[in-house]
Amino acid sequence: MMLVHDIPQLRRSVRELRQSGAGRIAFVPTMGALHAGHLALVKAARQQADAVVVSIFVNPLQFGAGEDFSRYPRDAARDAALLESVGADVLFLPTEAMLFPQGQAAQTRVEVPGLSNVLCGAVRTGHFAGVTTIVSKLFNLVQPDVAVFGEKDFQQLAIIRRMTSDLNFNVEIVGQTTEREADGLAMSSRNAFLSVDERQHAPALYATLKLMAEQLRAGRCDYERLQAEGRASLLMSGLVPDYVAIRRVEDLAEPSSAQDALVVLVAARLGQTRLIDNIRV
Ligand code: PAF
Repeated sequence: MMLVHDIPQLRRSVRELRQSGAGRIAFVPTMGALHAGHLALVKAARQQADAVVVSIFVNPLQFGAGEDFSRYPRDAARDAALLESVGADVLFLPTEAMLFPQGQAAQTRVEVPGLSNVLCGAVRTGHFAGVTTIVSKLFNLVQPDVAVFGEKDFQQLAIIRRMTSDLNFNVEIVGQTTEREADGLAMSSRNAFLSVDERQHAPALYATLKLMAEQLRAGRCDYERLQAEGRASLLMSGLVPDYVAIRRVEDLAEPSSAQDALVVLVAARLGQTRLIDNIRV
């Protein structure tokens, strides 16, 4: 695996991959602190393409004031060894100065209206504009044919699909199923922040989602009440919900007909840690 630390070197490496016969290049953007969920993205990327480029960049644009940017876990050497073990070809490790040479405030932004302002976007103002800005920069730098994102960040995936279509990026977006711990907790770099006690309560998030999905499959359509029950169940387990929402898969709007494909999304705080998860119905 080639370690790449600057933009000219990245462009050279991608050109060399193409010249050596990689007809299709896959890209997996990450913020590091890799776990089995990220490795599943890289394995899926391998199946989609001849070569895989991964980036690690803890993107300050997507963290709000008082969020966990400064304490976000960083361990590039460990991450690089993991990526090598699953067959990534290039690891791009840019710096902030390289990606935002005019400074963060002066950086041109890419924003998907509407979708970016609901659910997590309503609680984390500006978060998704930070995500779409960095992802569009990385797409321009890597010029991949396909990019793989985790379904755990369901709203992020929907926003990136919309951005890719709206801006005519020639990139196929692939969503990868969420990897879970044995007790159902979705894998996340932020799980590392949980205390032993909090970790024991954390599976309530997925348990609540499963229960809600079962009720929806059984035909319940009193969505408001079901959401309120979901919130109550989280509170009982010590989680403080930001939202519990039953939405349409298609556009994250509130369901309007019994034919809608649904997803239940949840974000909740456990101590200092904010966890998200979702389940399709
Ligand atoms: O999902 C993430 O880890 C980040 O939001 C992403 C897509 C790497 C952009 O910084």
